[in-house]
Amino acid sequence: MPGIKGPSEYSREPPRHPSLVINSKQPFNAEPPRSALVNSYVTPVDFFYKRNHGPIPVVDDIERYSVSLNGLIETPKELTMRDIRSLPKYSVAATLQCAGNRRTAMSKVKTVKGVGWGISAIGNAVWGGAKLADVLELVGIPKFTAATKSGGKHVEFVSIDKCKEENGGPYKASIPLFQATNPDADVLLAYEMNGECLNRDHGYPLRVVVPGVIGARSVKWLDSINILANECQGFFMQKDYKMFPPSVNWDNIDWSTRRPQMDFPVQSAICSLEDLTVMKQPGKVRVSGYAVSGGGRGIERVDVSMDGGKTWVEATRYQKPGISYVSDDTNSDKWAWVLFEATVDVPHSVEIVAKAVDSAANVQPESVQEIWNLRGVLNTSWHRVQLRVGHSNL
Ligand code: MTE
Repeated sequence: MPGIKGPSEYSREPPRHPSLVINSKQPFNAEPPRSALVNSYVTPVDFFYKRNHGPIPVVDDIERYSVSLNGLIETPKELTMRDIRSLPKYSVAATLQCAGNRRTAMSKVKTVKGVGWGISAIGNAVWGGAKLADVLELVGIPKFTAATKSGGKHVEFVSIDKCKEENGGPYKASIPLFQATNPDADVLLAYEMNGECLNRDHGYPLRVVVPGVIGARSVKWLDSINILANECQGFFMQKDYKMFPPSVNWDNIDWSTRRPQMDFPVQSAICSLEDLTVMKQPGKVRVSGYAVSGGGRGIERVDVSMDGGKTWVEATRYQKPGISYVSDDTNSDKWAWVLFEATVDVPHSVEIVAKAVDSAANVQPESVQEIWNLRGVLNTSWHRVQLRVGHSNL
């Protein structure tokens, strides 16, 4: 494509905040310190995790950049940034979470394959852009379409980056056409993040944001959109980001038996304390963190335990500071996380645990053992941290 230089060099990586914890340099994968996540409801771009499968592409001539719409449509179309910006602009607060968030903890049960992540492969941003449903209308696909006359049922997003897993080809993924054409699903072609022009790390000049779905489907550096009869056959849809039971190993795995993971399950984590925090003496401790669920399901409750899960207290939840959060209120940001907090008295060394319940009453699983899977995805087990008082042992 004209205007796009070969993305193969890691030498042209963008500058990044020095406090990011780097999990892999090439490709660049990094997450903020966990405490940064609870400093604000909207995660600053600098502190937003960066998840890449190849080098960051360089798009240096925006005038010549375009997205092509192809596949099972009557008239293929090329859209420039001007075309996309001329559509109504929407701002959607949505939490993006990598399916590999909390993988490192899962790998402690038994080895898993994949980049290690702490609890910060997640962030909440306000994405600005056009609705995919409006874009698809430009090629004659009406809102709320599950299948086109020519048999199109899936919308594939193809990037301009190049990944090893795709044998040097671009990253790609798809979502069902019904989700793409449903304006209430809020799927965006985003050119802004937190009111600023999208930066290179997060997909400049244009990325997909699929709210409530694992981050892998929010394709960055968009190059083309294809209407297909079947879901995308790319590596990250068919050979990755699928959820297997603990009994499946690399000798007996059959990828075709599972569907690509889409919605993420209910999740929460404590961000105000490290895995092990030492207090000099007993006292009050503020426990705060994030809780989020996929598919637009709100967070009904966050429970905090001081005794490893025997007894619980309910934490308070909020999105915008000062406004108490109600999961089914029309004013709540349904695609976004809630932050929670509870102040507890800590008399002696304890294990503090958090678990969230979503608006469909789904609860996080108690232990990571029962959800262990060979790719280390979707570790949503109760989050546990140790608080040690003085020099006593737990
Ligand atoms: N899009 C492209 N083109 N290449 C990628 O490697 N990574 C995906 C997704 N989109 C990826 C991509 C994954 S796995 C995640 S979790 C999110 O982007 C991360 O988005 P972020 O780096 O903006 O946080």
